Amino acid sequence: MKTRCLYLIAWVCLSASGLSVAAAAPLTPLQDLGRQLFLDPQLSSPPGESCASCHSPDAAFTDPRRDTPTSPGAIAGRFGNRNSPTAMYTAYSPLFQLDTDGITYEGGLFWDGRAANLENQAQGPLLNPLEMANPDKATVVNKVRAASYAPLFNSVFGPSSLSRTEPAYAMIASAIAAFERSSTFSPFSSKYDAYLAGQVKLTAAEEHGRTLFNDPTKGNCAACHPSTPASDGTPPLFTDFTYDNLGVPRNPNNPFYTLPVALNPAGVNFLDLGLGPIVGNTGDNGKFKVPTLRNIALTNPYTHNGYFQTLLGVVDFYNTRDVKPACSNPMTTENLALAQGCWPQPETAATVNHKELGNLQLSSSDESDIVAFLGTLTDGYWQTPSLSECLFNWAEGAYPSLLQPARSVTQSQAPYTYRYYKAANAYVGVSSDDNHVYYLGSDGVMQDVGALPAWLKKAGCI
Ligand code: HEC
Ligand code: HEC
Repeated sequence: MKTRCLYLIAWVCLSASGLSVAAAAPLTPLQDLGRQLFLDPQLSSPPGESCASCHSPDAAFTDPRRDTPTSPGAIAGRFGNRNSPTAMYTAYSPLFQLDTDGITYEGGLFWDGRAANLENQAQGPLLNPLEMANPDKATVVNKVRAASYAPLFNSVFGPSSLSRTEPAYAMIASAIAAFERSSTFSPFSSKYDAYLAGQVKLTAAEEHGRTLFNDPTKGNCAACHPSTPASDGTPPLFTDFTYDNLGVPRNPNNPFYTLPVALNPAGVNFLDLGLGPIVGNTGDNGKFKVPTLRNIALTNPYTHNGYFQTLLGVVDFYNTRDVKPACSNPMTTENLALAQGCWPQPETAATVNHKELGNLQLSSSDESDIVAFLGTLTDGYWQTPSLSECLFNWAEGAYPSLLQPARSVTQSQAPYTYRYYKAANAYVGVSSDDNHVYYLGSDGVMQDVGALPAWLKKAGCI
């Protein structure tokens, strides 16, 4: 009799974790260590810049400093050459690989795929002279040895784990990667997730935008930014992790152009060739990884060099790139290009994708509807307390001997909402990670008791 048990989950750890970033599932000690490393501004040289400076939990793990298209480094006056992407949902990127067709690359991290996985990626920024700028690995390990979380490091990795530089540096990266794999980075809690679960209707504009997004003869966006769950049930990630050249122009506002010759030998003539040089194939020049579109409303500027400030600009570019005339000045900003009704020439012309985008024949209201749809991909919507409240109230009526309402405490820490029953020492919770309900009883056994929509229906909440 499945219906007897609500599921119980280890919700108790939630309240104890004290996360200062958007709280989600309970973190393991390894993930919590990664969290502290991720947030530590002492880990740059000079101190002051952490991973979170460019991947802030308050900005969907992108750079909250919106005044430049690329991020300032720890050393004053230095800037990176690319737009800081979100670190969210990167846990789902497959290993960098050549597809079975022998032509298409997929997976990996960074805009050009040069890191195979998160462990490998996390080793980069700490030593990058344009980012956290530590002179060597030993400097980083020394800083961790002096940090308040050094005891946690030793309890996770073993007593003398910080004594040898090479292995310690790899452990630092693996703890950060473990944190990035936690559900803090992949909550799947957007309005669109609620829509897929049958919980909410989209507005007319969002719904029309959704149709255009998916229609191969209209927006054709889902060809590269898939919008339906994978065959294994993974919710849509809005990227297929492949690489493409959209023909994005050079960005006249990229501060990297002005760096001294030692840091940018090409000066203002710098060309970002993306994937090509990584795989040693000029046919891949100008290709960049398809980014996720989850939380896209929060993560401007857009594309690898931050050329676009607005989503409407991006969508208009997809729609009219091959229709509008070329701007006379190749270094024309998005603002001016939109005002002048032109687009500057691509940064890398030879490999531009003319098959799937460039002339979509969309009206301007179609463009705004696609933007409205993109707005449904912002996390933190789903898990409405009123619905979970309704479910909990019903459960207390249906299972009075298991759950004791008089002594319960309800808490919501997106993407989790749960109720703790003191007298019964039990927890009932809903998780927007997998949209399931869980029950943890006094016997300590956690049970997944099924999909949330089914329970909400049963409870008469929807
Ligand atoms: C100064 C800003 C800055 C700092 C500090 C920084 N990053 Fe990044 N991060 C970037 C930029 C820019 C990129 C893209 C670089 C590229 O593609 O060449 C990036 C890429 C990434 C990616 C890959 C995202 C994807 O979709 O491929 C991850 C993950 C990431 N950073 C995590 C981290 C971690 C972990 C740290 C700390 C150890 C960190 N970053 C520190 C700016 C920064
Ligand atoms: C052929 C594959 C492809 C198609 C089709 C496609 N995209 Fe993209 N999209 C990409 C790639 C690749 C990038 C990154 C390009 C770059 O940075 O140079 C990107 C970037 C974006 C960005 C910026 C993301 C960020 O974080 O900076 C948005 C927004 C976007 N696409 C929306 C759309 C919409 C809306 C459509 C349909 C109108 C669409 N895409 C169709 C491949 C595609």
